[in-house]
Amino acid sequence: MKKISIINFKGGVAKTMSAINIAHILATVHKKRVLIIDLDKQGNTTKLFNKHNVEEYSIADLITDRCSIDEVIVNTDYENLDLIPANMDLIEANFKVMLDVSTPQQFRLKKHLDEVEEYYDYCIIDNPPDVNASVINGLVASDDVLIPIKIDQFAFDGMKELIRQIENAKVSNPNLNLKGCFVTMYGKNDVNIQGEEVLNANNEYKMFNTHIRRTVKADESTFANAPILEYSKRCGAAKDYRALVEEYLSKE
Ligand SMILES: Nc1ncnc2c1ncn2[C@@H]1O[C@H](COP(=O)(O)OP(=O)(O)O)[C@@H](O)[C@H]1O
Ligand SMILES: [Mg+2]
Repeated sequence: MKKISIINFKGGVAKTMSAINIAHILATVHKKRVLIIDLDKQGNTTKLFNKHNVEEYSIADLITDRCSIDEVIVNTDYENLDLIPANMDLIEANFKVMLDVSTPQQFRLKKHLDEVEEYYDYCIIDNPPDVNASVINGLVASDDVLIPIKIDQFAFDGMKELIRQIENAKVSNPNLNLKGCFVTMYGKNDVNIQGEEVLNANNEYKMFNTHIRRTVKADESTFANAPILEYSKRCGAAKDYRALVEEYLSKE
């Protein structure tokens, strides 16, 4: 099972949109067995799949060892695509993990994921825009990191800190590989065209060739509770996410 963290310390850069659609395309187009993990207390990924239910186990219970991984995984409506949901319980769970020094704090998610290693081909982790115990657990459990970037004046804010956190995670997980950044919500305007040129010319951060076009279908798909490929197969973002997954697979 290949584990991929989708992360950026900025909000609103399409982390969740990317996690959902990369996971869904791997499962439906490429017929891979995929587990998507929601690590954001806001539970946007969980809600998109209509699995927000505070009565059920969530990632909070898993990282605090209150349930087994079998008990927390739920099926989605899509074949080959399962989910570990998140909700606001994650706030308290993160504190508990930080305070409990009786067991190593950063290996909790990895330990549980090891149990389903044989059951899935890919695990996609949707992160919140900050650093906390579960984010560190996610990085320590991951093989690859993908960074969605929305081009604006603040596009690189937090990047240095993110790279530093990735380096920190490598102490516990030397396999961790920053696979690259990709541009999201791309539009044909000066800011995006020039911004993309600057990003592609930079030597600091590896860039994917594929960018994801801005389309109103993206917002609409969240209201329809559907991955973009299900909602609008022919829209730019659907085609671009397919191309991004192809590019990722070609770089494996
Ligand atoms: N390709 C796109 N085109 C237009 N809007 C998009 C696109 N991707 C994401 N969005 C919208 O941008 C907002 C932020 O996306 P989201 O995935 O929730 O970001 P994050 O998880 O980084 O906070 C959402 O309203 C989403 O619908
Ligand atoms: Mg999100």
